[in-house]
Amino acid sequence: MRPKPSKAPETSRPPARGEAVRAPSEPADSHSRLPRRQGDLPGERLPVILEVAPNHDYALIDSGDGRKLEQYGPYRIVRPEGQALWRPALPPREWERVDAIFTGDTDEEGMGRWRFPREPLGETWPMRHDGIDYLGRFTSFRHVGVFPEQASHWDFMARLIEQARRPVKVLNLFGYTGLASLVAARAGAEVTHVDASKKAIGWARENQAVARLNDRPIRWICEDAMKFAEREERRGSRYDIVLFDPPAYGRGPKGEVWQLFEDLPAMAELCRAILTPRPLAVVLTAYSIRASFFAIHTLMRDTFAGMGGTVESGELIIREKAAGRALSTSLFSRWVA
Ligand SMILES: C[S@@+](CC[C@H](N)C(=O)[O-])C[C@H]1O[C@@H](n2cnc3c(N)ncnc32)[C@H](O)[C@@H]1O
Repeated sequence: MRPKPSKAPETSRPPARGEAVRAPSEPADSHSRLPRRQGDLPGERLPVILEVAPNHDYALIDSGDGRKLEQYGPYRIVRPEGQALWRPALPPREWERVDAIFTGDTDEEGMGRWRFPREPLGETWPMRHDGIDYLGRFTSFRHVGVFPEQASHWDFMARLIEQARRPVKVLNLFGYTGLASLVAARAGAEVTHVDASKKAIGWARENQAVARLNDRPIRWICEDAMKFAEREERRGSRYDIVLFDPPAYGRGPKGEVWQLFEDLPAMAELCRAILTPRPLAVVLTAYSIRASFFAIHTLMRDTFAGMGGTVESGELIIREKAAGRALSTSLFSRWVA
């Protein structure tokens, strides 16, 4: 599964023992006590395995011995990968001729270190996804500013936006460096991007400039995702597509605590509540959690009872180039109108 929620260190610390998680009187909690929705359940399709194949912009070259070897634009990068229980397919020299290696703390939450065996590299480098330029980035938490497996969702969303042939509003919650927001904006949507990390919002804005999409309507909002969604519900702001890719634990800018197992049902309800009368889809990704996609599938189907459509659930995987093995990164479940 995808690494723990360490992209934005300031938002990812689990709450300390005894620390208040969310005051019981806050609206999020009351959402989670709503009775089960009535109405026919949406259709279902599962398991669905969404796959990212090696391409010009990104490739999982090889994997094994607890590591993965990837190509991100011009750079070859080696990072820890706990799921790679097998042996590498390529000879050791292929793993040695690399530009960057993440070493150090093997704890997902711990600070590690980038080593650059060939020459010292800057913090960022040019990357591209399907013609959209953005920046790869060596972060202190082993992440590189993009989750390539998400491309399956981006393509799906772009198709929905283009085929709608009407103005489409997209909400991207937990949006990180904004790739999904850029893809949606390029496809013609009006986008609202929310993330708790000021740093991530800064990186996302920078990506918008690098992508030369400054003229596209994207609102960049640094806020707690739950609070923002609650406010949108109260204000009557509505969206045609909602993406949410929450970490297992996270923190809002004011210390609000996000705990997936506590908060996901309320968040899913909110995502339904803020849909326009002609919605297109709600896409949930989950990673680093001890759960099966059946869990989020069941939640999504119950949440979207009475709405028609279909809930499709499964895993996001990356197909490895060397020996064609599948590396699973996350679970997903999406309601499609
Ligand atoms: C997995 S990343 C999302 C990745 C993104 N969907 C992508 O494809 O690039 C999780 C993000 O959630 C943000 N986050 C954590 N807790 C949050 C909260 N309470 N409210 C809003 N964002 C939060 C983190 O800052 C981080 O950027």
